[in-house]
Amino acid sequence: MTKIVVLTGAGVSAESGIPTFRASDGLWEGHRVEEVATPEGFRANPELVLDFYNQRRRKLLSPDVKPNAAHVALANWEASLPPSDFLLITQNVDNLHVRAGSKNVVPMHGELLKARCVDTGEVFPWLDDITLETPHPKRPDQLGRLRPHIVWFGEMPLEMEKIGEALIDCDCFVSIGTSGKVYPAAGFVQMTPTECWRVEINLNSSDNSQAFDDSFVGHATEQVPRFVDAWKKRYGS
Ligand code: APR
Repeated sequence: MTKIVVLTGAGVSAESGIPTFRASDGLWEGHRVEEVATPEGFRANPELVLDFYNQRRRKLLSPDVKPNAAHVALANWEASLPPSDFLLITQNVDNLHVRAGSKNVVPMHGELLKARCVDTGEVFPWLDDITLETPHPKRPDQLGRLRPHIVWFGEMPLEMEKIGEALIDCDCFVSIGTSGKVYPAAGFVQMTPTECWRVEINLNSSDNSQAFDDSFVGHATEQVPRFVDAWKKRYGS
């Protein structure tokens, strides 16, 4: 048992104080998904969309948001393995996995702490608000040409080739804190080889629980360290 692929979603960061997306009212912090997470929404009301992500960026940078025991357990697990044997794919746009020490991370839905030029696609590290008056970092006479480096609905997730190659070749696939409602990530479990050990870790069962061999039910901060211990016992690492 060597090659491991981990997929994380909003549930892994919930106990760090970042709300998950699909609350029972169907809104994201008071907004419809189409308003704040589609290219059409951005075209219709760029100020609203920029402000939505500005608020989330400020929250991520606030001292009360920190990696939790689940992020740390994943980083320690990776550190105990050869680098080529572990890939962490995250749907989260926070940087909590990297802050916890994870190295081989693919943020498939983008990164909140990066900005992208709408004209050229150039990507820049970004800690400040983005507004319609923000100058381009390389061409300061151009204002308002930046957007959050976030993959919106209808856009192609990042690094899909690398993800696909890892999935078809993995021995263990662990899906943590994701509702299994958003594709392509929800379909990753189906791309793993037949003999792969597929494990789900979630507070409740997700939409595609039946595709997994085992499930660890409960809070990620408890269940992820518990699962990593179980993996180490089973495979003697
Ligand atoms: N521990 C474990 N699981 C948890 C916890 C927790 N503490 N809290 C919540 N969960 C689970 C919920 O049961 C739910 O299944 O996390 C999941 C969160 O689901 P979503 O809010 O739908 O988030 P996610 O699956 O990451 O969304 C996928 O959709 O909205 C888009 O681009 C956005 O990346 C996001 C994608």
